[in-house]
Amino acid sequence: MNFMANIESKYNELKEKYSQNCVIPRLKIGNKSADVAIIQGGMGVGISLSGLASAVAREGGIGVIAANAIGMIEPDYFQGHIEANVRALRKEIRRSRESGTGLIGVNIMVAVDCFQELLHAAIEEKVDLLFLGAGLPIKNIPVEKIRAAGVAVVPIVSSGRAAKLIFKSWEKSYNDIPDGVVVEGPKAGGHLGFKYEQIHDPAFQLEVIVPEVVESLKEFEIRHGREIPVVAAGGIFTGEDIYNFFKLGAKGVQLGTRFVATYECDADIRFKEAYVAAKEEDVTIIASPVGLPGRAINNVFLKEVAEGVKKYFRCPSRCLESCGAKDARYCISEALDSARKGELDNGFAFAGSNVYRVGSIVPVKDLMSSLKNQYTMAAICDSLKTEYDRMAEKLAAKRDEYGKALTIAANELQESMKKTTLESELKFKAKMESISESIEQAKVEYNAMLERLSELKEELALASAELSAV
Ligand SMILES: Cc1cc2nc3c(=O)[nH]c(=O)nc-3n(C[C@H](O)[C@H](O)[C@H](O)COP(=O)(O)O)c2cc1C
Repeated sequence: MNFMANIESKYNELKEKYSQNCVIPRLKIGNKSADVAIIQGGMGVGISLSGLASAVAREGGIGVIAANAIGMIEPDYFQGHIEANVRALRKEIRRSRESGTGLIGVNIMVAVDCFQELLHAAIEEKVDLLFLGAGLPIKNIPVEKIRAAGVAVVPIVSSGRAAKLIFKSWEKSYNDIPDGVVVEGPKAGGHLGFKYEQIHDPAFQLEVIVPEVVESLKEFEIRHGREIPVVAAGGIFTGEDIYNFFKLGAKGVQLGTRFVATYECDADIRFKEAYVAAKEEDVTIIASPVGLPGRAINNVFLKEVAEGVKKYFRCPSRCLESCGAKDARYCISEALDSARKGELDNGFAFAGSNVYRVGSIVPVKDLMSSLKNQYTMAAICDSLKTEYDRMAEKLAAKRDEYGKALTIAANELQESMKKTTLESELKFKAKMESISESIEQAKVEYNAMLERLSELKEELALASAELSAV
């Protein structure tokens, strides 16, 4: 058997052995259930449309169409942006349905002027899930209509406090609660729900806020007698990352950056190539005109904005009341739309903190299968490590036991030397026999454990090598 075949057969053997816990589980949100607990995050403007969303849904994940300024893909956006947004959204949802099976969601920013129009259109088109971010989805949510259409609702939050606030308001206003939550940490791409000083603060990292959000939702799970899955997002790059967030209580993960570098992503090839070319030092935080920090790949456009170079500016739609486009001297929707079309001189690409690790553009199918393999190897490594640690602990206890038995035997010998009556000699002989028997037994167990430990070491080394190779 050649080396690769050997690894492959060992991998299958390990997978079989640790099979209960080593595949990415399903994700149940409300009445929807995905085969694989991976969500492709909604990415505006026009980065995640029906092409990407349906490819992810076909692979068993949840594909998400971003509704934010989606009308920019229509020819008449500047003549009536709300109408264009709604029309484009309906078209893209229908297209995603035509191109296959699986779960399709829509991501809508709560703060935009046409939030209600987009929300109603998505419900009427009977999407599977609604992901509602960039604001609190509390007021005027048509919950009855949502329930009648069988749509699941998932707010996007950045803290346990925000999650609690949304759930409490829903209980009060609608006597209902959302079906799940996406927790987006500060390593995500696009707009971030954090203050600038929180972005690199350890207390606000995803590893800290996921358990906080899980905890904050427990009371609602108890009160409503149903599970509320928490989905982790932001900076998740490998299957090992996915495994680690599951260990922290997440029931699913949402990835953005990895899905941009796929053939099926709806952006121009030059947008994807900017991802492949990005270096660590190119990843930057901008002050977005919408009043939030955002993570992007630095380029000439952004450098000129930072230097105060006057950009051609118009506000094509007044889509966000609080927008500071005038001071920023550019419209972010236009800049993002230019980037989507590959015109990066007139715009820029939002991207997550790990974008510099993207090495190539791949099919969604390959990305999903590599994430699944990495998850499996991480789970196997973890099981082996746990078994190894347990075994090492037992071994240490056995060594103590063995040492103690030897000390007792030595003491007994010393005692017997002092009083050598026939009776004490016989007693000593019997005692020594029983002690040497238990020492023998301890030795046998000790040796068996040593053998298992070295076996585990070998398996662990193999699994670790496989993990770094996938
Ligand atoms: C190009 C790009 C555009 C994005 N646009 C949106 C958006 O319109 N709405 C939203 O809620 N999140 C948006 N996001 C965030 C993603 O949905 C996702 O949560 C995030 O990228 C996850 O982090 P990752 O990129 O490190 O995987 C965007 C991210 C990127 C990279």
